[in-house]
Amino acid sequence: MNNIIKPEPTIIFIFGGSGDLTNRKLIPALYNLYLDNHMPEKFVIIGLGRTKFTDKQYRDKVFGGITDFSRQKGTKEDWANFSKSVRYQVSDVFDEKSYLKMGKEIEKIEKAWGEHPNVIFNLSIAPSLMDDVVTNLGKSGICTDPECTRLVIEKPFGHDLESARSLNNLLTTYFDESQIYRIDHYLGKDAVQNILVFRFANLLFEPIWNHNYIDHVQITVSESIGVGDRGGYYDKSGALRDMIQNHVLQLLCFVAMEPPGSFKADEIRNRKVDVLKAIRRISEDEVAEYAVRGQYGKGWSKGEAAKAYREEVTKNPKTDTETFAAVKFHIDNWRWTGVPFYVRSGKRMPKKTSIITIQFKNAPHQVFPEQTASTVRPNRITIAISPDTGIKMRFQAKRPGLDMMLNPVEMKFNYSETYEDAQPEAYETLLHDVMTADATLFMRSDEVEEAWDLLMPILNSWEKNPAYYFPNYDAGSEGPQTAARLIAKDGYHWFTYREL
Ligand code: BG6
Repeated sequence: MNNIIKPEPTIIFIFGGSGDLTNRKLIPALYNLYLDNHMPEKFVIIGLGRTKFTDKQYRDKVFGGITDFSRQKGTKEDWANFSKSVRYQVSDVFDEKSYLKMGKEIEKIEKAWGEHPNVIFNLSIAPSLMDDVVTNLGKSGICTDPECTRLVIEKPFGHDLESARSLNNLLTTYFDESQIYRIDHYLGKDAVQNILVFRFANLLFEPIWNHNYIDHVQITVSESIGVGDRGGYYDKSGALRDMIQNHVLQLLCFVAMEPPGSFKADEIRNRKVDVLKAIRRISEDEVAEYAVRGQYGKGWSKGEAAKAYREEVTKNPKTDTETFAAVKFHIDNWRWTGVPFYVRSGKRMPKKTSIITIQFKNAPHQVFPEQTASTVRPNRITIAISPDTGIKMRFQAKRPGLDMMLNPVEMKFNYSETYEDAQPEAYETLLHDVMTADATLFMRSDEVEEAWDLLMPILNSWEKNPAYYFPNYDAGSEGPQTAARLIAKDGYHWFTYREL
């Protein structure tokens, strides 16, 4: 997130080099950085995997990803120049010879370049392989220079508090915390970073950003898609682990954190950990009061018949994994006492939206006669991460006319209307940050563990009490009735995208 520094010469090894994430996100992000002149002068990208590809076959494969998913396509010449630096190494994560080969490759490149490169290992692999790769990498001795070797760990980071702790312990057995970059791709989104700019680069908002003025906060991260062919992974995860533990809690932290003293990585991360620590812990017995879950049955999505989750996850037709979760949090500190934070996330909802709503209290005194102000609504700030990225502020205005009638109106900031430049993909920002050793937008070990700690009572309670009532919402709907009740009992309703 620094001002653009040209990274030093870099070698990037991608574990899971023939996987979906590499094809959709990683190679397109690196290619876009190249097109925008943000890659190092010298770089090599080495995909690692079991499939036997030649370099040429591998380049052809990842070119498919560029055609389908890259933000910019570049010219034939661009691709030809970039792809000269893309290679493939057949590799077995369990076999130490594969790691020795990587070490040899680094030596060879270092000799050819005549300088000591940064080496990045991107671990884009199934959670079940993580321990072996970390151990073998650690033992191989190729990461002993903490200044120049970095590990990028893709989510999920553990399956619960215990597994996250044990992965953190394993990582720090071999590596320094400063070498570890735990990815939450939401932090790479411009609109998410803009929450900090909005709050801390303006004078207007911070004085009222507290329980004296704010009534409640809502965060909705909804998707219209189902799980499709990701059922194998998703069924072991569910909405709470897949979205709330990471992306949604990160958004909450940005909204709720105290102003950092500076923009240094650890300053920001300390303030986020403070928020996670201050969120009230609940017991397993209280879960029903604070959290609800849902799973979609069949329904309609964008005018087309949509299958039920249980039909999609054919290997486990009675699964009670949740595809929707909503939770009410309280942050017990001076700033937020008494302000509930309602968060929800689900698949097969009507629209893909990631939206934060800050609902303010009513003005303390009604100056205008009641009949003229019957349409007055309290102020509201809406931060949209997607599909439109921007911020809206609702306030009151006088309607034109001789009479005094008040109406809510909006001031809007929209990225695409304001800026001509396209926003980079989250992975472009994040991979550039790894290359320039800026950890601000990555999760520190204590942050990940606090987030798990917070959710463990819910996960435990749901595991002990199977959801015999699933499916409980139709594909294409706003989620289960229980989610509406969770917020209605406090006198509110979920803001839908249309309303925002
Ligand atoms: C991923 C989840 O982390 O985020 C997916 O595993 C989800 O289930 C995705 O679809 C949503 O990301 P975005 O950037 O499309 O909102």
